[in-house]
Amino acid sequence: MTPQSLVEMRGIVKSFPGVRALDGVDFTLRCGEIHSLLGENGAGKSTLIKILGGAYRFDGGVVRLAGSVIEPGTPLAAQRLGISTVYQEINLIPELSVAENLSLGRQPRKFGLIDWRSIRRRGEALMQRLGLAMDVARPLRSCSIAVQQMVAIARALDEQAKVLVLDEPTSSLDAGEVQQLFSVMRRLRGEGLGIVFISHFLDQVYAISDRLTVLRNGKLVGEFLPAELPRLELIAKMLGQDVAAVAELQSHRSGAAPAADRPALVRTRALGRRHALEPLDLEIRAGEVVGLAGLLGSGRTETARLLFGIDRSDGGEVEVGGKLLPRHAPRQSIRSGLALAPEDRKAEGIVPELSVRENMVLALQARRGWLRKLKRREEREIVDRFIKALRIATPDAEKPVGQLSGGNQQKVILARWLAMQPKLLILDEPTRGIDVGAKGEIERLMAKLCGEGMALLFISSELDEVVRDSHRVVVLRDRRKVGELTGAEIDLPNIMRLIAAEHDTTDA
Ligand SMILES: Nc1ncnc2c1ncn2[C@@H]1O[C@H](COP(=O)(O)OP(=O)(O)OP(=O)(O)O)[C@@H](O)[C@H]1O
Ligand SMILES: [Mg+2]
Repeated sequence: MTPQSLVEMRGIVKSFPGVRALDGVDFTLRCGEIHSLLGENGAGKSTLIKILGGAYRFDGGVVRLAGSVIEPGTPLAAQRLGISTVYQEINLIPELSVAENLSLGRQPRKFGLIDWRSIRRRGEALMQRLGLAMDVARPLRSCSIAVQQMVAIARALDEQAKVLVLDEPTSSLDAGEVQQLFSVMRRLRGEGLGIVFISHFLDQVYAISDRLTVLRNGKLVGEFLPAELPRLELIAKMLGQDVAAVAELQSHRSGAAPAADRPALVRTRALGRRHALEPLDLEIRAGEVVGLAGLLGSGRTETARLLFGIDRSDGGEVEVGGKLLPRHAPRQSIRSGLALAPEDRKAEGIVPELSVRENMVLALQARRGWLRKLKRREEREIVDRFIKALRIATPDAEKPVGQLSGGNQQKVILARWLAMQPKLLILDEPTRGIDVGAKGEIERLMAKLCGEGMALLFISSELDEVVRDSHRVVVLRDRRKVGELTGAEIDLPNIMRLIAAEHDTTDA
């Protein structure tokens, strides 16, 4: 028996001003399967599932659900038809309890009053369906990101849901949390749901998918079975290149380490803060790439924030080029040549209404002061250079950044800090949400800039990236530095050993 097809999208066309986001795309989702949607940043993945989820109207094509033509039109209509979507940006309210979040907009009432008892019971039942027994009276803010993610899923899943769509749900989860999410996905698959999964983490895609669909530039490349499509071939299809070119892109690329006797560019002594980071000594030389490895919550982001002066260190000092930073705050840091590209682009970086150009020159202009406006020509030159170097998919520099795909917004932030030509660039998870081709290019660009003397402090959860790009790796565990690796010592097993030491006895 052939598995029944649940969703059939045929010849889907969708244009935005200046972009054809989808150009005649076919997509088929079957009952009881997990189907991954793959493609570069801007390929059209989110647009396709937004059409399915009723968030966008489409210009052409047809969508069938269990054989009948549907036109979702609004998210609510899609939800009523049994299509549940968790979008790239989760919209829950951290201050409310789990149960309240689960019943937002549909509070049961009794005699005109909100019925807290049934809100709570309903919340428990919804989480139970995902196999999670928990206290739903807890504020959402107190739950791990993984649990918040589950709440978003539980909220999206109506009792009669047939289709669940997850757009990059794992981008801020650690490895254990990803497994937790996967077991929920498998459980729902077992109930016969069709699940669409979008992710740039190819390991995860291979671990969970029954089928793959690849898009490129708004067109369908094809539908594949993971067992029949080796990883390099998959990447080649995503990028539209041949396998040999991809193999080259994936190869080792950290440039030569700077000479060991070169003086430190940045030196910290006892940089630390109670409850955030134990006092840390760190030295980074010009031209050096220092990787910061550790689990989520190990103190990586805290190190970045303390070094840049966003959070104040309890004592300790930071020296740049042999000079002590007197009052250590971001302003001084920027003036002495430091830059920080933060991890959360939504909260700390992007201004969605401003154009690509304005977002890119924001930091540069701020450093110069608003009275000394950048010349238009200077601006154009910088902006064009980075659009090209990072391959930012935008019809032009004047497009509001909010209209770019998620990964391309991330690239704009990166360009903003590169445009400052910093002496030390601190990158906190720069490649999260960025496709595999662009990742390769960003890594190359970093290596090139470091070859020219820029220093880089590089934070990434993807250890193979850290191994590939770093001259030295500092490993953090439980908010403390637990080791340092250089040169040939830098490999995955060594880093894992340092990260995991002691954990094997305490963790099951
Ligand atoms: N609301 C919008 N207005 C204008 N253009 C848009 C809008 N949404 C998407 N686009 C454009 O459509 C194209 C496809 O974007 P989409 O978000 O579907 O990409 P994606 O495959 O999800 O990428 P990513 O991996 O970066 O999330 C991009 O060129 C994007 O700039
Ligand atoms: Mg997307």
